[in-house]
Amino acid sequence: MLNGVGNMAWLGAATLFILSLRGLSHPASARRGNVYGVCGMTIAVLATLLVTRGASLGIAVGAALVGGGIGAWLARRVEMTQMPQLVAVLHSFVGLAATLIAFANALSPASASSVVEHAIHDTEIYVGAFIGTITFAGSIVAFLKLQGTMGGKPLVLPARHLINAVALALCVVLGYRFVSATDSAQALVALGVMCAIAGVLGVHLVMAIGGADMPVVVSMLNSYSGWAAAATGFMLDNDLLVTTGALVGSSGAILSYIMCRAMNRSFVSVILGGFGAVAATTSATPEGEVVATTVEEVGTLLRDAAEVVIVPGYGMAVAQAQGTISEITRRLRAQGVRVRFGIHPVAGRLPGHMNVLLAEAKVPYDIVLEMDEINEDFTNTDVVLVIGANDIVNPGAQEDAGSPIAGMPVLEVWRARTVVVSKRSMATGYAGVDNPLFYKDNTRMLFGDAKGSVDALLRQLEAA
Ligand code: TAP
Repeated sequence: MLNGVGNMAWLGAATLFILSLRGLSHPASARRGNVYGVCGMTIAVLATLLVTRGASLGIAVGAALVGGGIGAWLARRVEMTQMPQLVAVLHSFVGLAATLIAFANALSPASASSVVEHAIHDTEIYVGAFIGTITFAGSIVAFLKLQGTMGGKPLVLPARHLINAVALALCVVLGYRFVSATDSAQALVALGVMCAIAGVLGVHLVMAIGGADMPVVVSMLNSYSGWAAAATGFMLDNDLLVTTGALVGSSGAILSYIMCRAMNRSFVSVILGGFGAVAATTSATPEGEVVATTVEEVGTLLRDAAEVVIVPGYGMAVAQAQGTISEITRRLRAQGVRVRFGIHPVAGRLPGHMNVLLAEAKVPYDIVLEMDEINEDFTNTDVVLVIGANDIVNPGAQEDAGSPIAGMPVLEVWRARTVVVSKRSMATGYAGVDNPLFYKDNTRMLFGDAKGSVDALLRQLEAA
């Protein structure tokens, strides 16, 4: 009876997760998608507790309370700009959980009725531990890179692809030994050694990826964490975990693929730690003069413009300048200026980062355009206002074959009549490369914190 109710609840939860993913595919329906996800997860947890009987129920409730408490505390403390690091840490937890559950299963093997069933269960354990460990180790490196503790430069070892291939081959051999082991000590040694190798492989795969390609790595690790959860579901004979893991795994893989296409990167190359990628040489130092501007000048430029495009980047998120930018937009539109936003697929530090901030600041969706929709319009634009963006507007991606971001599509803002860049200094962006945009004749640099600059700009527009 309880199992029947549990199964029905799991089916309902899985359906809500699918509706949630659908909702999250557009900013307008994202809030609804989140509500579906929360309801689905609540049902899933309650149903799991319901079917968990005996002594383990107390442990499960206790763990859920402790885990939920830590999660709520973290969610309140973490800044929006630290979300990518948080996501990376959460992926590492999923990976670690899969590995620990695999070890728990290996230590107390289930009584399988046939040799084939036994081999299948062992394979589930082994695959779960393998994906879990790669996800755990890779996510820790991703966390350190996103946190800035570890540099964004890719680690390019001379024989890196050979190292990966040998590590993978060793894991396959150890897998055979694990499944065919006659005693549990032998099996545990094979599993332990494989985890050590998979850990090194996970670290190496992510370290070989450069800063600008980190978005793809994060969504790829998201996908891996889903597959690790699905493998755990097989081990625990939990259908909901298998379904949910597969949903996360496949949606993460689709997102990685979309991001690779948007960034003109090879999907296979990124998952294989840069396999087949052309190594970047030193990029050329930009030529030209940097011209600083003032809030007064920018105010005049905007008032005289007919077409304005605002390009937000990570710096807008750091400065929390979106509210004032929304107000500036409202004011300029009221004065008859056509204002639109140009969003790069990897602007900021999270997929959809800028869309979320602009939606929060109540910028209408219909004036927020994707890179492909706006790129051709820059030639007819009077003023482009770049707010805390750098890599996503770097012409070096098109002009400098030696640049680490060579080939990555960018917002071609330099084609506009005037480009105003609001940032604090001449510092590089996430990819660590100089930006020739700042040296172009039609670029004006508005130095200072983005929030301070746009607040002053709003006052200037209001006073006029
Ligand atoms: P970035 O290239 O990181 O540039 C942001 C710029 O903002 C910096 O150059 C910085 O210059 C400026 N800035 C920082 N704080 C500021 C403040 N308070 N006021 C004004 N400016 C400020 O950002 P982007 O153009 O959005 O590009 C995103 C980069 O992150 C890409 O390389 C992308 O691959 C990578 N990435 C993206 C994601 C996702 S999924 N979106 C995930 C991981 C990595 P100053 O220090 O001079 O102010």
